[in-house]
Amino acid sequence: QWTVASIVDDQVAAIREQVGDGRAICGLSGGVDSAVAAALVQRAIGDRLTCVFVDHGLLRSGERTQVERDFVAATGVNLVTVDARERFLAALAGVSDPEQKRKIIGREFIRVFEQAERDLKAEGDYRFLVQGTLYPDVVESGGGTGAANIKSHHNVGGLPDDLAFELVEPLRSLFKDEVRRVGVELGLPETIVHRQPFPGPGLGIRIIGEVTAERLDLLRAADAIAREELTAAGLDRDIWQCPVVLLADVRSVGVQGDGRTYGHPVVLRPVSSEDAMTADWTRLPYDVLERISTRITNEVDDVNRVVLDVTSKPPGTIEWE
Ligand code: XMP
Repeated sequence: QWTVASIVDDQVAAIREQVGDGRAICGLSGGVDSAVAAALVQRAIGDRLTCVFVDHGLLRSGERTQVERDFVAATGVNLVTVDARERFLAALAGVSDPEQKRKIIGREFIRVFEQAERDLKAEGDYRFLVQGTLYPDVVESGGGTGAANIKSHHNVGGLPDDLAFELVEPLRSLFKDEVRRVGVELGLPETIVHRQPFPGPGLGIRIIGEVTAERLDLLRAADAIAREELTAAGLDRDIWQCPVVLLADVRSVGVQGDGRTYGHPVVLRPVSSEDAMTADWTRLPYDVLERISTRITNEVDDVNRVVLDVTSKPPGTIEWE
């Protein structure tokens, strides 16, 4: 008889068997897969697991708190946060090309994470690395380990093979919906268990143009408003995701109060999808769009226009970069 509780019990037993009295490291991204994998391993080996969360400064509003406060409160996990915001900003300075940004973010991420691993290894016998690989990833890679590699450009956390770790992959037999149910069973916060997909390179690929601290602040504020209103309207489960994109190199004329403005547009990109391979633009209710637009233009300095993307995928991708 298949139950979520039995999956948890089986996986906890399997992890204990594999790890023995060793120690494990798990990178948290803020997403559901790494969170559920970490929570399972935490249940199995307790404080012999240490989680590492890299704040690359490209996170959305509230995401660091969700990990540092809510995830830790729900699981009691040991957490190390690495504040690498300055480092990523410096590495991204002057770069506008999307693929270039992805490469830089991926490279810096690996460097920062490896340093965190070295620091931990100096403290204790960390021999295991936890990864949130799901069944579809395993199938896609032909059943071998290192499933993340096939989508290396999509997985900021993809690590080189030469690190002396044995992988622990407790989600290898599960589909996404099962992972979410395991997350609920383990008492993880709703905001993590039902989080919509969010790209590893984060807001870095939602600023069209160079990434700067000021632009990140603008985009974070606009994105937070869009998410707040979509959640308040009860639309989260109807939408696959809704990127908010800052056209940082574009300005248009507007008028606000008594004055002329010359600010940036942001684009709302709500999409419906089954698997992100194809997508349709979501017909959001006009009153919700209206609230998002009014609030963003009122509350976010230097943004004076909100634009709706009505392109399906194909021909448009979900992200703008
Ligand atoms: P596109 O834009 O290709 O996006 O239609 C399809 C899905 O993948 C996500 N995405 C990424 N995820 N690293 C990631 O981890 C990336 O570089 C990346 N690019 C796109 C996107 O959010 C959507 O869910």
